[in-house]
Amino acid sequence: MIRGTIISFADNKKLKIVARIWIIRVTMDNIKRFGVSIEPDLLKKFDKLIDEEGYENRSEAIRDLIRNSLIATKKHDPESIAMGTLTMIYDHHTGNLTNRLLKIQHNHTSEILTTTHIHLDHDNCLEVLILKGKTKNIQKLADNIKSLKGIKHGELVMTTSSY
Ligand code: NI
Repeated sequence: MIRGTIISFADNKKLKIVARIWIIRVTMDNIKRFGVSIEPDLLKKFDKLIDEEGYENRSEAIRDLIRNSLIATKKHDPESIAMGTLTMIYDHHTGNLTNRLLKIQHNHTSEILTTTHIHLDHDNCLEVLILKGKTKNIQKLADNIKSLKGIKHGELVMTTSSY
């Protein structure tokens, strides 16, 4: 009997798993699955890390690692368009630092989308520049600012919407 055959198929555990995987493949459009071989100790450390960072599962954590890796590689292409934030902490009393900062920023008006300046205390300022443009120009701007005397900490984070 056909009906009986279908029921016995449905009772088969392996077939249920195959059917489930097939449903996941159909419903998760453009998602590919792959296996990863990894040493148990390394996996344990990875699981601890992603648990601390709040990932719900390994897949999302691995996807983020891959995206980060692609972005990190991309930023080395000087002609590619990238976005970035440059965060800096400085003492505004240092020499003519504020004038030099303004001069550099006025030479990069096409890359600087916006700036935010917060007076942290009597001496220190926090400034964040949001940047968009050719990677080489953003990197040059960040290098020029970070190397100024009086910049206590400067960090450029590059990103892209391509991934
Ligand atoms: Ni300030």
